[in-house]
Amino acid sequence: MDRIRIVGGQRLTGSIPISGAKNATLPLMIASLLTDETLVLENVPRLADVALLQRILGNHGVDVMVGGKRPGDSEYEGQTLHISAKRIVDTTAPYELVARMRASFWVIAPIVARAGEARVSLPGGCAIGTRPVDMLLMAMRDLGAEIEIDRGYVVARAPHGLKGGEIVFPKVTVGGTHTAVMAAVLADGVTVIDNAACEPEIGDLCACLNKMGAKIAGAGTSRIVVTGVSRLSGAHHRVLPDRIETGTYAMAVTMAGGEVLLEGARAELLQAALDVLVDAGAEVSETNSGVHIARNGVDLAPVEVTTAPFPGFPTDLQAQLMALMTRANGTSHITETIFENRFMHVQELARLGAQVHLEGQTATVAGVPQLKGAPVMATDLRASVSLVIAALAAQGETLVNRVYHLDRGFERLEGKLAACGAEIERLSGF
Ligand code: EPZ
Repeated sequence: MDRIRIVGGQRLTGSIPISGAKNATLPLMIASLLTDETLVLENVPRLADVALLQRILGNHGVDVMVGGKRPGDSEYEGQTLHISAKRIVDTTAPYELVARMRASFWVIAPIVARAGEARVSLPGGCAIGTRPVDMLLMAMRDLGAEIEIDRGYVVARAPHGLKGGEIVFPKVTVGGTHTAVMAAVLADGVTVIDNAACEPEIGDLCACLNKMGAKIAGAGTSRIVVTGVSRLSGAHHRVLPDRIETGTYAMAVTMAGGEVLLEGARAELLQAALDVLVDAGAEVSETNSGVHIARNGVDLAPVEVTTAPFPGFPTDLQAQLMALMTRANGTSHITETIFENRFMHVQELARLGAQVHLEGQTATVAGVPQLKGAPVMATDLRASVSLVIAALAAQGETLVNRVYHLDRGFERLEGKLAACGAEIERLSGF
């Protein structure tokens, strides 16, 4: 198993290319199940989760062709996937695959829409909380699917097709909104989705579906209206830049000090997080080529932050912000409202000398003047990268174990940081 070795204390200067968004790529790939024509996705990041979803889709009979690199392409140029679900040969998504990646549960909507029936394993618990699927199933029922739970599998049936309907989510859910939209596009009639998630990745999915011939209005707002169509065609779509990767590197630069251009990043996708970084002492500006972030000699100021659905401060940046605040000049409060157990990084940050006190859903982070490197590991992707951020400013060597978590969501993290002057390397085979 690989490890990442970091020696803290280097400033970061240069530029970091931002990859396509993981959390947009996954639903976009799943949307390919809605058409028998080819969907071409550009700017797809090279990530373990993308490779796993290719396998999962393959199990349903989907062909995925990965475009190669062309001369002159940068090493970070995203992949182009040609995805073709001509025939859905298997409507079952088995436990062994769904258990490894929760988002694969979302295949339920397009498979029912296309084939009239799907059998998808319940995803089970995960490291950041219980993460049920009740709202996803509610959305499917609201559009006329019959749902039954059978030996750990959800069996959803709509033999005569799904019907447009009204879906009111009791709580904002990204996966629920993706599911509702994918179920509604081929349904008979109009679907209104209220309290829909406004995350940019929902907007990206809807933009792609509209290119495929869907009729979706209101994406990016809390009310989405979908007028069902009888079939969808293929399309070309470029995945939007990853706002969580952007925010993560912005925090890394704020932690280590220095000046970096986050190439291809778009500030409006993470304004709440950038505003917090400005409060903490960073300088942020947007240019034609991306977002420029700097911190030169200014002390890190403490902040008060509560995670919230978009456009609020994202839960997927909570761990990284906590790492940053471990070195602030004062005490910060960070409250997590989306997942009930997303504080697995606290005990590992403590190994580096951080002082974090947890009470309920709020972490009180008392900034310390110095962190010290240590061996650490984490149990999810964002928690793992928070340890990398802390390590960049820690004295001496930190070894981050269980790097496979990082590989699920960060493309060549160590290469991107090393190119800006960080002392970071991957040690293979431990
Ligand atoms: C998506 O997960 C993201 N995953 C997560 O990214 C992200 O943290 C999360 O949205 C919130 O922004 C992908 O896009 C692949 P939710 P999702 O449904 O859709 C509860 C990362 O690190 N809930 O918006 O699964 C749920 O438990 C990750 O990239 C129900 O109660 O999240 C949570 O408390 C991890 N019932 C809240 O709603 C349901 O049926 C929001 O979850 C569904 C969700």
